[in-house]
Amino acid sequence: MTSNSDIARAYDEAFYESTAFLQTHPETLAGIALLFGIQPSNPAHCRVLEIGSALGDNLIPMALNAPDSQFVGVDISTRQVDEAATRAAQLGLKNIRFYSGSIEHLPDSAGPFDYIVCHGVFSWVPQEVQQAILSRCKALLAPQGILYVSYNTYPGWHFRDYIKHAIQFNGKKASSTDEKYEALKDIVTLLSRHAVQTPAFPARGIFETFSKQLESLPKSYLVHEYYEPFNIPLYVSEFMQLIEKHELQYVGEAMLSDNFLLSDQAELRQSLLDKSTSRGEYEQYLDLIISRGFRSSLVTHKGLAVNANIHPDRIRPFYFMSDLKPLDNRVPEDNTRPVRFKSADKSREVKATSPLTKAALYCLSQAWPLGFNFNDLVHQAYRILRRDITQADIEDVKQQATSLCQDMLDIYAKGQLPCLRVTPPLCTNQISNQPLLSPLARTQIQRGGQQLTSQLHATVKMDALSQQIALLCTGTNTQDEIVNATEQLIKNEGKALGLNADSCRKPRQSAEKAVDMVLEMLRAQALLVG
Ligand SMILES: C[S@@+](CC[C@H](N)C(=O)[O-])C[C@H]1O[C@@H](n2cnc3c(N)ncnc32)[C@H](O)[C@@H]1O
Repeated sequence: MTSNSDIARAYDEAFYESTAFLQTHPETLAGIALLFGIQPSNPAHCRVLEIGSALGDNLIPMALNAPDSQFVGVDISTRQVDEAATRAAQLGLKNIRFYSGSIEHLPDSAGPFDYIVCHGVFSWVPQEVQQAILSRCKALLAPQGILYVSYNTYPGWHFRDYIKHAIQFNGKKASSTDEKYEALKDIVTLLSRHAVQTPAFPARGIFETFSKQLESLPKSYLVHEYYEPFNIPLYVSEFMQLIEKHELQYVGEAMLSDNFLLSDQAELRQSLLDKSTSRGEYEQYLDLIISRGFRSSLVTHKGLAVNANIHPDRIRPFYFMSDLKPLDNRVPEDNTRPVRFKSADKSREVKATSPLTKAALYCLSQAWPLGFNFNDLVHQAYRILRRDITQADIEDVKQQATSLCQDMLDIYAKGQLPCLRVTPPLCTNQISNQPLLSPLARTQIQRGGQQLTSQLHATVKMDALSQQIALLCTGTNTQDEIVNATEQLIKNEGKALGLNADSCRKPRQSAEKAVDMVLEMLRAQALLVG
């Protein structure tokens, strides 16, 4: 039987290189809590615990961007904890501590915490540790505190169990992470190829979808997810019973789009509510309908008023942000002609018709990667429409503001906005003459990482030349100096940095173009802090 010491040894031997998870960020958790009628702690002044903090890839960026908050990470793998503490010290962080040991032993004196994050742990530990996680969280959670727990769920995992058994069968002789990964890719490729050629293959869709996702999923995640001896998915109704036993209650899902709040889903919601005698039953019906395989649930103390009957006005305390740009690039007019707004990578899109919503989305696109609180957003949008907010039309403003809330809630609920926040991020939306890269991104590049974490807690990938240009953004180099240094870089190492022969032949021109592009990318990805 696998014990805590086996788990610790496994992670001591193979570090779990992870990333920042936006859905676990206190800003996101506070936003969702507000929607469900809870008054959460201000995420800019709070105490956060992460269970299974590994190398601090999630917690360290949070700590850097909330200097007035306190962060604690606990992990059973001592070697990972030591490495996380070293990385935090290199960044000069004073508001973060890492404990080595099982969560079972974290004393009450370490708490209370306004936010507790348990991501990528719960389904992968023995049942007695699951119980211990919930009982420690009950003791360590502040009265209005929010606990985030992610876990694999049935019925979605019934299908993934098929994939898991195929992978484990094919990889039974594999021992290293690389061997396991190769065995995984090998069998998934074989089965998905067969699936494509065999329309009657019952698991066709499952393997086709999985093989498409394969390239984008990190090796450490895949090997962990499909080879772990413990991977115990739950029906959400079972999860509800577990938390109930610990005097905790369910709030909602951390991903706003997982909460089925769209206005056009009202009929489905009502039909499930009619069948359900409790919130737990309702959530279980939902999972059966969508065959959900994973949840990131928010939980709080039993007895706290949670109101799942969401009123759009609850989003008023949000700090609104959007990177969606109008396709026609024009200032919206005061009419109901539809305007489409799209993200730069075209993966997210919104069609707006209401004049105020169009104007609001336009203002947000101009302010990105900053935004506005609700009142400022309404004022800015009215200005764009060249309307004055006078005493005479105050009722009209109120009504329009409520319909703006409904539209914005729908846009959030469709997952079309890049983040959900309640306070402004620590970044700039301007490119100054002496641009300054965030200290975290600088350290991540210097450590040779492929992935950077933005000031919005998002993951950004960057090629080698862009990384070198980013490092030149010291806050003292002027843009001209950055271009000069880039020109030298291209002359000396252009080929090694992946530039083609044509670009290497015209180093000055290439440098000017590259610096322009990289500075705009750093700005838009919230990687500049000055
Ligand atoms: C799969 S990793 C997930 C890391 C990170 N939270 C993520 O999602 O990327 C699981 C982590 O939980 C830690 N862990 C496992 N059991 C634990 C326990 N009982 N107490 C504290 N940490 C534990 C492991 O050492 C490992 O770092």
